Amino acid sequence: MSGSISEQQAVIEAAVKEATALISVAPDAASIRTAVNAATGKKGTLAAVKSGLGRVTDLELRKTLGQAVNEAIEAVERAATAREQTVKREAFAGAIAADRVDMSELALRTGGRRGRMHLVTQATERLEDVFVGLGFRVAEGPEVETDFHNFEALNMPPSHPARSMWDTLFVDQDPQGSVVLRTHTSPVQIRVMQEWPPPIYAVMPGRVFRKETPDATHMPVFYQIEGLVVDRNITFADLAGTIEAFTKAFFGEGFTSRLRPSYFPFTEPSAEFDIRRHDGSWIELGGCGMVHPRVLAAAGLDPEEWGGFAFGFGIDRMAKERHGVEDIREMYSNDVRFMEQFS
Ligand code: DAH
Repeated sequence: MSGSISEQQAVIEAAVKEATALISVAPDAASIRTAVNAATGKKGTLAAVKSGLGRVTDLELRKTLGQAVNEAIEAVERAATAREQTVKREAFAGAIAADRVDMSELALRTGGRRGRMHLVTQATERLEDVFVGLGFRVAEGPEVETDFHNFEALNMPPSHPARSMWDTLFVDQDPQGSVVLRTHTSPVQIRVMQEWPPPIYAVMPGRVFRKETPDATHMPVFYQIEGLVVDRNITFADLAGTIEAFTKAFFGEGFTSRLRPSYFPFTEPSAEFDIRRHDGSWIELGGCGMVHPRVLAAAGLDPEEWGGFAFGFGIDRMAKERHGVEDIREMYSNDVRFMEQFS
C-alpha cells in the first residue's frame, strides 16, 4: 500500500463520495448495483485499500483504517438501498401514470355526443312497460341468493336431480353450498310471495349467473325476467293469453307465441314458449307453467286457496332477437361502433 494514512482516508472518502453521487442519479436497480460494485466489489477502490491493510504495521492505524473501510462500505450500501426504494416508487408511479385512462379525451374526440342506454337496459325497460300496462308490478331480489330460495323452495330439495339443469356458481360461505349466485330469477317468486299478500301480479327482472363458457348464444352472466301471478281461479288459459298478449305488445302484431310441454320442478304442468319470427321460424324464449302447490306452500301460501302461473325468459336473448344481433357477446364488449347502432 502506498501513501500516508491521511491519503488512504482521503481515498476512502473519495470512493464513497463518487459511489453515492453515481447511486443518487442511477435510473434503475442494475445501474445502482454497478455503482456499488465499482466501490465495494472485488476489483473496487475500497477492496484495494482493504487488501493493502495487511502491510500497515501499526496496529492502531490498521484498526482505524479497517473501520473506515467497513463504514465506507456500509455507507455505500445504505445509499444504494435508499436509492433502490426511490427508483421502485418512481417506477410504480410512472406505471400508474402511464395506465391512466383519460375519459375526457373520448368525450372531446366524439364531439360531446350523448351516450345511450344499453340494449339490455332498453329491453328491460320496454318489458317492464309492457307488463305494467298489463297490470303487473315490478319487484327485485338479491343476486347472491340462499340455496333455499334458489332451489329448495322451488321444489328442488338437496340432491334433487333437476338442480343439474343449472350450472351453479357457489359462494364460499359456511355451511358450504348454502349460498349461491342465483342461477335464475325464479327465487324472486318466493321472496315476493313471502312479502306481498295475494293477489300477486308481478314481474321480476334481474341479473343471473351460470358456470358457462361464453359463446354466440351464452354468457356466464345474463339477464332474465320472471313473471308471477297468484290469485283465485287462475287457469292455464290465463297463462297462454298473457304470453300471447305480451308477445304482440313487445314484438308487434305480426308475432305469435306457442307453448310446448316441458318440465320444470316449480311448475305443474310446465311448458316452454316460443315466438314466431316474420320468416315463420320459431325461437325458444323461456319456460312457464302453473305454480306447483309445494312452491306456494314453501312461500307460506295455502295451495287450497291460491293458485297461479309463472314464466321466465332471457332478456339478453330478447334484445338479441329484436335487434338481429348475431353474437350475444357483442352486447357486452362495449365496442362503441356496435353500441351506437342502437339508440
Ligand atoms: N327459471 C327457469 C330457467 O331459468 C325458467 C322458468 C321456467 C321460469 C318455468 C319460470 C317457469 O317461472 O315457470 O330455466
